Amino acid sequence: MTETTTHTISAEQSRREQELTDRVLASFENTPDDRLKQLMQALTKHLHAFVREVRLTEAEWEKAIEFLTNVGHITDERRQEFILLSDVLGASMQTILVNNPADGDATEATVFGPFFLEDAPEIPLGGDIAGGAPGQPCWVEGTVTDTTGRPIPNARVEVWEADEDGFYDVQYGDDRVAGRAHLYSDEKGRYAFWGLTPTPYPIPHDGPVGAMLAATNRSPVRAAHLHFMVTAPALRTLVTHIFVEGDPQLEIGDSVFGVQDSLIKTFAPQPAGTPTPDGRDLGDQEWARTRFDIVLAPATA
Ligand SMILES: [Fe+2]
Repeated sequence: MTETTTHTISAEQSRREQELTDRVLASFENTPDDRLKQLMQALTKHLHAFVREVRLTEAEWEKAIEFLTNVGHITDERRQEFILLSDVLGASMQTILVNNPADGDATEATVFGPFFLEDAPEIPLGGDIAGGAPGQPCWVEGTVTDTTGRPIPNARVEVWEADEDGFYDVQYGDDRVAGRAHLYSDEKGRYAFWGLTPTPYPIPHDGPVGAMLAATNRSPVRAAHLHFMVTAPALRTLVTHIFVEGDPQLEIGDSVFGVQDSLIKTFAPQPAGTPTPDGRDLGDQEWARTRFDIVLAPATA
């Protein structure tokens, strides 16, 4: 078989290619589960269309198999290269968009990321999530409401973030718990905590996904962000981040396409000595403050 890059194919060639696609589609016709049947047939349709559109060469197909094999080989309990691949292709974010339809003023969702941990410590309102993680202190406050504006008391707010060196606690390989916590909104739906001013960090890029980013001249760096997961009864769980207005990485592009304009927040710098909202003494340290009002959609939406 010759390798070809021409897009001009004969009617007979086109007929043979379509005939194959049709046969594969038909092979799934007796799938008992309707949804599985739909998924497999749509996958077949799009996969064949891709191969035909780009006139995929056999060498390229082998390269693709080798790439996916390498993605599998580097994956273990601590490293999930397939999720990374899904992320950098925007497939994770597209799945989030499909599953979190717009609903009034409901806060937009974004990628979950690999660094959430169950059982992060509980802190009181105004508490500190840093747990020793280095970084500039940042006061974060806001409200949790539903789409009618009703305050949501006792909403569970999970927050987690990288330290100023760009690492999450779990990446240090010891048992530290830092830069993560959960708290509950008060009777007026208000919440507040001390975190760290977020800084950009690269996704793990020493594997096949990193090589793909390098080959396509793409940055592995994520725009600086602070993760949130907010849950309350009868409301849609919100998994999101807030991003830092003015972060240069917003212009370069977030490597996993997680940025939504509505999630970019002002992190106002506070010179050393500026009184803190809760009287905390930060000595000669600069700090920052931001506000993030969270609106949860109804769970049935
Ligand atoms: Fe993150």
